[in-house]
Amino acid sequence: MVLIEVKWVTKAYYTSRRKDRARIVLDNVSMNFHDNEFVCLIGPSGCGKTTLLNLIAGFERPTVGEVLYKGRKVTSPSPERGVVFQEYSLFPWMSVLDNVRFALNTMDLSSDRKDDIARNALAMVNLTEFADQRPNLLSGGMKQRVAVARLLAMDPDVWLMDEPFSSLDEQTRKKLDSDILNIWRIKGKTIVFVTHNVDEALHLATRIVLFSESPGRVIKEWKVARDMPRTPESPEMVALKKEITDAMPACACADVRPIEIME
Ligand SMILES: Nc1ncnc2c1ncn2[C@@H]1O[C@H](COP(=O)(O)OP(=O)(O)OP(=O)(O)O)[C@@H](O)[C@H]1O
Ligand SMILES: [Mg+2]
Repeated sequence: MVLIEVKWVTKAYYTSRRKDRARIVLDNVSMNFHDNEFVCLIGPSGCGKTTLLNLIAGFERPTVGEVLYKGRKVTSPSPERGVVFQEYSLFPWMSVLDNVRFALNTMDLSSDRKDDIARNALAMVNLTEFADQRPNLLSGGMKQRVAVARLLAMDPDVWLMDEPFSSLDEQTRKKLDSDILNIWRIKGKTIVFVTHNVDEALHLATRIVLFSESPGRVIKEWKVARDMPRTPESPEMVALKKEITDAMPACACADVRPIEIME
């Protein structure tokens, strides 16, 4: 089932006060997201990936075109579409538990029920013992796990994740990627996940969508079979990685080009 439709979306920001100049950030983007898909968006810095997530979340409105969620136009944020940002987005003055509980504020639930849901969500990301601590006592990886717990508590249909683990060390990132994959397998959500890391996309996605340099357009996309072996050394993965990196605009694959040896 198609859950999200991005239809002919162009997004421009005015670059002068008189509104006589604008920068086009997304250029006529059309794409659908289906129920239970794990879609990774990759593309050069500044090509509009975050902007696209903001449009789907309802934080921003398209300049031209529309975004539909279950057939209805997205005009504002909704608890059906949860977001995990790249930076830690926790309230430093609240305990870890209250940070998760905050996500339930708009829901018509008893205080005890909210507590139960928040504690269960923290248990799922192995943070039970930190429930009463302030976020400043947590490591970066733990803070992002609190952000994931918030989504688990809210239980939205769509998870919008904007480079959620990119500031973490490789080992922590891999662990959190595996946790997200498990949660996705158990809960069957639709995840739209932005990353710069092709290996991460190959590990997670059922579909990888590559954007052009700014203004962002969809260049190409690849389906990744759910049963494909996800070990980086498997011939299927090596071949797919090569296909994707070959298709990437030059500046987007700076991290995969061979190092030039100076004579
Ligand atoms: N509120 C805004 N006002 C003006 N310009 C903006 C605004 N938000 C984003 N932009 C511009 O839109 C372009 C796309 O930004 P966006 O954050 O969506 O890119 P991105 O693909 O997520 O980049 P990165 O990979 O670096 O996170 C950038 O040039 C940015 O400066
Ligand atoms: Mg971004």
